[in-house]
Amino acid sequence: MDVVLRKKPPSEAEQYLLDIRRDRELSFFDLHSIEQVTLEDLELVFDVARRFREYKTYKFSFNKGFSQVNAFFEPSTRTQASFDLAAKQLSMDTTSVGASNSSFKKGESFIDTIQTLGAYNVRTIILRCTQAGGPEFAARHVQASVINAGDGWHEHPTQALLDAFTILDEFGGRDLRGRIVTIVGDIKHSRVFGSLVRILKKLQADIRVAAPETFLPDYVERFGIETFWSADEALDGADVVYALRVQEERGAQGDIPTLREYSKTFGISPKRLALAKPSAILMHPGPVMRDIDVHSVLVARHPQSRILRQVENGSATRKALLWLLSDRLDGMVKEYEPL
Ligand code: NCD
Repeated sequence: MDVVLRKKPPSEAEQYLLDIRRDRELSFFDLHSIEQVTLEDLELVFDVARRFREYKTYKFSFNKGFSQVNAFFEPSTRTQASFDLAAKQLSMDTTSVGASNSSFKKGESFIDTIQTLGAYNVRTIILRCTQAGGPEFAARHVQASVINAGDGWHEHPTQALLDAFTILDEFGGRDLRGRIVTIVGDIKHSRVFGSLVRILKKLQADIRVAAPETFLPDYVERFGIETFWSADEALDGADVVYALRVQEERGAQGDIPTLREYSKTFGISPKRLALAKPSAILMHPGPVMRDIDVHSVLVARHPQSRILRQVENGSATRKALLWLLSDRLDGMVKEYEPL
C-alpha cells in the first residue's frame, strides 16, 4: 500500500514495521473470535506489539487518512481508551458512539446502526455489544474491518491477545507448554473467559478453572480443562493466577450466597496467592472489584501483579492489530452483503 511517510527517511522503527508488514500478513480481515487466529497470526501480532511498546510515545503517520469508529454499546474504560489511543497514535481519525448517546436509544436496529457507521467509509469499526455474535454478523454487512471488543457473554478476543502477550513475555518461549494457568471467578458470565481459554488452548497451557459450581457452565468441560470447586487446590503450583470479576450486572448475585462469602472462598488474597509458585504472576482483565475478586494489596503495585502491565500491553497489542489490519484491507474489496 502507499504509506504516507513524512519527508525525512523512515526511522529504524518505522522501517522495521513497514518491512514486517510487507513480508507477513494476518489470516483474517475481521476479528470476532480467537478461533480465527492462527499461531502465525499470534507471532506476528506479538512481534509488532513488542516494537510498538518500545515506541509508546511516538506518533506514527502510517494510517493517516483512515478513520475508525469506536461503537461501544456497553460500558468500557480500558478497551475503548486503548483502541482510541492506538488509532490516534497511528494518525487515524476516530469517533465514538455509545448506547446512551446513539439512535439505538430511539429504537434503531443494530444492523441499521452498524451500516450507518460503515457508510462513513471508515477503515475499522471497534464493536462492543450486548449480542453474542454481533460483531460477526456486523462484519458481513459492512466494508470496514470489524473488531470484536466484547460481545455479550461470548468472547473478547483482543483481551485474550494482550493476556497471552503478557504471559509469553513473562515466561519467554513461543508457547505455554508446561505452564499452569489457573482461572478463578465468575466463568459463567465472562466473555473474557471465552477468549482466554481458546488462546491458552492454542498455546498448549495447562488450564485449571476454579469457581463455585454455579459459576461453572457445562460447556467448560468440553474444553477439556480441569475444573475445581476449591480455589486453594486449583492454585497449588500455578504459574499464572487469572482472576475474573463477579459480574453482578449479569445476575451473578443469584449464583453465590453473598459477595463476602465468595471473597472468603475464591477471592485472591496474599495467603491464597502464596499457594501458587513463588514466581507466579497475578492477572485480571479489569475492572477489579477490590477485596472481592482480588485483595486490595495485590491490585496495583504488588510485585506479582501484572494488572497494569496488561493495560500497557493492551495499547501495544491493539496498535499492532490496527497496523496489520489496515494493510490487509488495502486494495481489496471485502465481500459483504448489503441488506
Ligand atoms: C471485561 C469486559 O468488559 O468483558 N473488561 C475489559 O474489557 N477489560 C471484563 C469485565 O467487565 O469484568
